[in-house]
Amino acid sequence: MDSHDRPRPLVRDAAPGDFDAIARIYSHYVEHALATFEEIAPSVDEMRARHAAIAAAGLPYLVAELDGRLAGYAYASAYRPRSAYRHTIEDSVYVAEGFGRCGIGRALLTALIERCGRGPWRQMIAVIGNSGNAGSIALHAQLGFEHAGVLRDVGFKHGRWVDTVLMQRALNAAPHAPA
Ligand SMILES: CC(C)(COP(=O)(O)OP(=O)(O)OC[C@H]1O[C@@H](n2cnc3c(N)ncnc32)[C@H](O)[C@@H]1OP(=O)(O)O)[C@@H](O)C(=O)NCCC(=O)NCCS
Repeated sequence: MDSHDRPRPLVRDAAPGDFDAIARIYSHYVEHALATFEEIAPSVDEMRARHAAIAAAGLPYLVAELDGRLAGYAYASAYRPRSAYRHTIEDSVYVAEGFGRCGIGRALLTALIERCGRGPWRQMIAVIGNSGNAGSIALHAQLGFEHAGVLRDVGFKHGRWVDTVLMQRALNAAPHAPA
């Protein structure tokens, strides 16, 4: 199907009723993929608690609906906890199994970049699990992320060593606005 004919996902802020679906989407990647280095799927309550921490930091946590179903989610979180990193954030985006290649990931990440660009953050980092994660690498490159390096064999999951690919994109914050 041509991308112009595809139904457009509705992207909105996550709401309390979304977390069963969010936990289900994430658990698939925890259990079967190398995109995340978590190995035990977090509970719905844990996903709610993580959302609460992100919201408390003023960062966006978005979901995408397609045909009335929750098809993916994306959020920004602190890149590293030490204070001088406070203008740098990390993105995470997960699309439900069966909804791949429908434009959901692009819609979510585009909206996340736009929302974060309105805040005080200057740089967005993608920490992509597995150098073979062609989908995530291509999605980030399409949205202006540049390769910043590869950390070799830093994870061990599903019986193999796994790299992380680092990609980076500047956001739109004023150039001399640190606080
Ligand atoms: C990576 C991911 C978010 C992409 O989401 P998606 O909804 O399938 O992506 P989209 O349909 O919006 O595709 C946007 C672009 O990404 C690229 N892309 C997506 N999937 C791809 C794949 N399997 N192979 C190569 N390129 C791919 C393409 O450039 C695509 O544009 P095009 O369709 O016009 O060619 C999704 O595959 C996913 O959830 N993966 C597992 C979790 C993950 O790796 N998350 C990132 C952690 S940082």
